[in-house]
Amino acid sequence: MVAGAPGLPRNRNVRPGEGADLPNPLEASVGKARKKPRAQLVTSRPGPGERPRRTLARHAAPLERGRARTYIGPMDHSLETRPGLPDALRVLLRDYPREGWEQDPSFHGLVSFWLGMHLHFRDALGLMRGDAEALLDRRLDPASWAPRLARTGGGFVQHLHGHHGIEDDHYFPLLSARDARLARGFDILDADHHALDGHLDAFVRDANAALSALKDEDALRTGAGRLHEGLLRLDRFLDRHLTDEEELIVPVILRDGEAGLR
Ligand SMILES: [Fe+2]
Ligand SMILES: [Fe+2]
Repeated sequence: MVAGAPGLPRNRNVRPGEGADLPNPLEASVGKARKKPRAQLVTSRPGPGERPRRTLARHAAPLERGRARTYIGPMDHSLETRPGLPDALRVLLRDYPREGWEQDPSFHGLVSFWLGMHLHFRDALGLMRGDAEALLDRRLDPASWAPRLARTGGGFVQHLHGHHGIEDDHYFPLLSARDARLARGFDILDADHHALDGHLDAFVRDANAALSALKDEDALRTGAGRLHEGLLRLDRFLDRHLTDEEELIVPVILRDGEAGLR
């Protein structure tokens, strides 16, 4: 790392004030940080024949609405390949289409706040992608680009991990219990979070490699090019996740209200 060059924290659990000097505008909004590092969750994989403990806990709650769990077939629903949620999981979206969300009396509050968080993540990715393009086009000098990437990227990774943790630990179990037809959708979203962990780790590696090459123009351009390609991929995968999550969850909250979710 070049002296004075800001870097992104490699440890996803870095706390505010540690490592890079990162502003933390959303921390109060997202609430407490993830209770357990995701790495610990990954290491507690179920044994053969066991269901994941978090999934069991989620479905142990009484089911208040809906019918039995929906069978959606043996398709590949991985984040990187699926074109969207299966139709069987979009049943409520027919009654609550996206175009009508903002006019719904239940929109303002948790739904609007939560969609605002998603918008923030999309904006941060767009900012970093645009900056990488400006650097590669020589419209932005490396000395200006580096602190922007460190600040935006560090906050992005930290807040996204916190956001996923709250969804996994709080919102998904509560919302999943409200409608058995949608339970499989929450399993897909949970798997997305794990997939995104890998993509975020790759982003941090690429960003730090580029930030370490500020004084070597060839290496910087190579690193910035790799970072830009990774940002395009991450943008596609995160948008898939956020869009599907919104279309699964928002109709449930608009239908049932946000009581018991806060
Ligand atoms: Fe999520
Ligand atoms: Fe989310």
